[in-house]
Formats: sequence, structure tokens, C-alpha cells
Amino acid sequence: MIQQFEKIENINGILNLPGDKSISHRAVMFASLAKGESVIQNCSNSEDVKSTMNIFSQLGIRIDVGGEKIKITGNGFNSLRVPESELYAGNSGTTARLLSGILSAQNFNSVITGDESLSIRPMLRVVEPLRLMGAGINASELGTLPLIINPTKNLHPIEYKMKVASAQVKSAIILAAIHLDGETIINETTKTRDHSERMLGIKTEVQNNITRIVVSKRNYPEPFEMTIPADISTASFFIVLTLLAKDSELIIKNVSLNPTRTGIINLLSSMGGSIEIENEVIVNGEICGDIKVKSSRLKNIDIPVDIIPNIIDEVPILSVAGLFAEGNFKINHAKELRIKESDRIKSLCYNYKLLGLDVVEEDDGFELNGNIQNETDILFESFGDHRIAMAFAVLSMQLKNGAAVNQFESVAVSNPDFLEQIKQLS
Ligand code: S3P
Repeated sequence: MIQQFEKIENINGILNLPGDKSISHRAVMFASLAKGESVIQNCSNSEDVKSTMNIFSQLGIRIDVGGEKIKITGNGFNSLRVPESELYAGNSGTTARLLSGILSAQNFNSVITGDESLSIRPMLRVVEPLRLMGAGINASELGTLPLIINPTKNLHPIEYKMKVASAQVKSAIILAAIHLDGETIINETTKTRDHSERMLGIKTEVQNNITRIVVSKRNYPEPFEMTIPADISTASFFIVLTLLAKDSELIIKNVSLNPTRTGIINLLSSMGGSIEIENEVIVNGEICGDIKVKSSRLKNIDIPVDIIPNIIDEVPILSVAGLFAEGNFKINHAKELRIKESDRIKSLCYNYKLLGLDVVEEDDGFELNGNIQNETDILFESFGDHRIAMAFAVLSMQLKNGAAVNQFESVAVSNPDFLEQIKQLS
């Protein structure tokens, strides 16, 4: 579907967004493993989290979706049902990778598949540590899906030093380790999002900049009730839209402000963005609060290397803010962008070239030079990647004639209501 966007003058209002996608995946998975009924409120309504729910239904878990609440009744330790077919993770890397850890500890065979985009994303990053734990897991010859998992009697704890900064890999190891009596130790040199650790009450300590995570059966989930805060990654599109608009003010209610995710707010503030946090509270171990944003003049700054894992999902929209900020936007040390839902360095560079910018594509980043030369009849390409689609929707709304985004339906992967939310605010 080609979606046309007109130039937007002002943004005003109060926005409630669906629950954080990373936390929602984990809530569904942990409730499915626990014995008894869990209740989840404000769960993400994304296609990705639906993929997780469909898989756990196939694994014998009762999931009742009714209005605002989702009730999940798990059967407890070692009681997932043998699936009758392959488990389809759709577009969702989090589903495939976290599930690989859970399934590695079960006593049945399973196969994880995904859509075209997920099927070319690297899976050896989870296969390698899980095999070190004794799991019977194999990827395709190319190191991709399908993941084929056979039961093993030899699953055991390990001490593992993370090779990539990836919360998905860390969580896959954690989810195998919660099935074991002994302690698995994961050492992270670059801290990544820690929702799994917080939700499972996992002990972590930081020594000499290394985060040491100690996991065992003690961390196996119990049933819980939880209201999931709004998704900061989804919020970031609206934050940038408001910063770039004239005479605008937006409040986004109850957003997840976990410090492993707030790099985008810190960066945009350092760029001159007026962003305030109000009504901060801690709910279910996660910090959340309201974000108040006002129109601002932005200036590009150097993006520190160590913030990259924290902002990895926000780079597309951050670059849109950078395009309209004083100075040139430049990012490096972000090679992980090449293996997201699309090759995001390539996707971003392709689209920025349509505007007649001088774009320098590098292996681990890119640079935007000069000003927009061409603003007519622009059709941005989303490459079926939800975050590219939303970033270029926000960019389109800055152009005097507007612009269009191809394959816009891909936004449903994280935020199916994006268009209605925009309508509500403009
Ligand atoms: C996620 C972790 C990140 C992020 C993804 C969601 C998670 O991926 O990009 O959108 O929920 O754990 P990596 O951990 O592979 O960097």
C-alpha cells in the first residue's frame, strides 16, 4: 500500500500508546511458562507480539484476549504441548531468538520459521551459546532460519561472554538457563536492554564495566499481573514529529523509561530538543513516566559509540531529526543496522538520495551532507521495514508538498494504529 502524507504544521495533544513491544513479548512468554493465570494490561497490539501469542497457543497455552486485558494460563515447568507444525515467528526476531532458548530446554522436537526478512537474519548468534549449553539446536547452512531444535538430556549451565551486544541473544541464554538447577553466568561488556532480567528477578552486578548476570531455576517465572508502559521506540516517532513542527506541544503518557532504552531522549535533548519527563514512577520494576515535548531548533552532535546499542531501533527516526538539524548527521559503529528488519543503512541511504542529498554510505553507518534538493513526487521505499516506514512518514510530513511511503502496511509490525494517532494529533 502506498500511503501519501501531507505537510503537517502543528502537533498538539496527549497521546496514549500501546505497550512496549520488548516487554510485551517477554510478558507473554513468561506468563506462558508460569503455572497459573497471569493478567497483562496494555499489551502491544503489534503483529510481532501476535506472532509470539500464536506460537504459545500452538504450544498449548490458553490465551484469552478480551478488551484491555489479556489473560494467559500457563501449565508450569516442562509442560508446553508438542507443536503439531512449525512455529512461525513472522517478522519478529525477538520471537524467534527468545523462543529458541525456551525450546532448547523442552523434551520435544520443534522448528522455528519466519517471513522472508526474518529468514535472512543471523541465527548463529543464538545457536552458538545454546549449543555450548548442550542444546540440540541447528540453523540452516547459511546460519539462518529454520531453527531445528531436538531434545537433549545434556543441557547444562555455562559461563558465557557475550560476543555481540544483543538483548535477544542474552535473553535466549537466560530462557534456557531458567530450566537448570546450576547457575549460568553471562558477562556483558556492552549493556543491552534488561527487561528479561528485571521481569525474572535476575541478579546482575557491574564490575569494571562488565555486567555479570547470574541465572538459574530460581528465576523461573511465577504468574503475575502487569500493566505494560507505552513503547519508547514507538514514542520516538512522535517526539521527533513534535520537535520538528512549529508551535507544538505533545504529552505522551506513561512511557517506558528503562535506562537501557532512553538513549534517544538523551541524544535528542543534547541536540537541543525540549523534552521533559513528568510523573515518573516505578511499576513492575520498570521506570515509566510522561514525556512532554515542544517544538525545538536542533543541532547535530557527535553520537557516542557506547550509546549505539541503546538507540539501535531509533536510528532511522534519529537520522530524520538530524536531517533537519543544523550541521551534518553522521553515525558510525552501527553495523548491526545492516541485519535488522531490513539493511537499515542501505534503506536509509536509498531514501535520502531521493531527496538529492549527498549521502556517504559506510560499512558501519552513513553521513548526510547538504540540503534537500528535490521535494517533488517523492515515493519513499519502506523495504517492508516498519521503522523505515514510520521514519519516512515523519520526514514526508516536513516537506512542502508532502510525500508518499511504499509498503506502508509494514507499520503493523510494531504499531498498527500509527495513522490514526497522527490524525488525532494534527
Ligand atoms: C530487542 C532487542 C534488540 C532490538 C529489537 C528488540 C528485544 O535487538 O533491536 O527490536 O526485545 O530484546 P538485539 O538485541 O538483537 O540488538
